[in-house]
Amino acid sequence: MNVTEALATRMSCRAFLPTPVPEATVRAILDAARQAPSGGNLQPWRAYALTGAPLAELIALVRSRLPTHPRGEEPEYEIYPPGLWEPYRSRRFKCGEDLYATIGVSREDKLARLLQFARNYEFFGAPVGLFFCLDRRLGPPQWSDIGMYMQSVMLLAREHGLDTCAQEAWSAWHRTVGEYLGVPSELMLFSGMALGYRDASAPINRLRTERAPLEEVASLRGF
Ligand SMILES: Cc1cc2nc3c(=O)[nH]c(=O)nc-3n(C[C@H](O)[C@H](O)[C@H](O)COP(=O)(O)O)c2cc1C
Repeated sequence: MNVTEALATRMSCRAFLPTPVPEATVRAILDAARQAPSGGNLQPWRAYALTGAPLAELIALVRSRLPTHPRGEEPEYEIYPPGLWEPYRSRRFKCGEDLYATIGVSREDKLARLLQFARNYEFFGAPVGLFFCLDRRLGPPQWSDIGMYMQSVMLLAREHGLDTCAQEAWSAWHRTVGEYLGVPSELMLFSGMALGYRDASAPINRLRTERAPLEEVASLRGF
């Protein structure tokens, strides 16, 4: 598989087969992703990988807290700025609508939407749950660095026949996750990520999101 194929076939997978992923594979992916660039070579990423009993225990812990804290814990960062404007607002809206349409859930069916969203906290059935943290004193440039590490993980996963879903949703449980994993206090949880084998028969995995055309996102001169 080349980079173009890895990019073209990566999608956010939201239903996985229970097939375990060998430790050597997870290790190889996280290891190779270290080659991601970072400003000043700071390498500000810190990854945690869970499978088996520890993963099940964390999922059960969050599940036990969801009824009393349906929105999770006090957020450490805002995923989107308040009052999101165009064109981002419409893109976000469409992505959500298209996602729920794959499983036949209407806008009005708030409960079904909530239940589907809560699947985030089960890593959508993936056998491996990843968490990505960075020093909370670092700023936007280092947040972009951690994004590059995560994208490297997602592309490498494709090379191993695996799929992923990056999950900012996990940031809502930063305290629970941090305590459970023993994350040093200077690190903050940016995102989770589900990793495993795609359930190709699951309707939710039929979603293919659109992208704005090249002319909207890039300008070329002097060629
Ligand atoms: C940093 C990051 C965090 C994300 N968090 C979530 C999440 O919490 N739950 C979810 O279902 N999808 C999440 N996504 C997936 C995006 O919705 C998805 O990447 C986008 O809609 C484009 O679709 P695609 O990944 O299938 O190409 C996240 C993606 C990124 C890059």
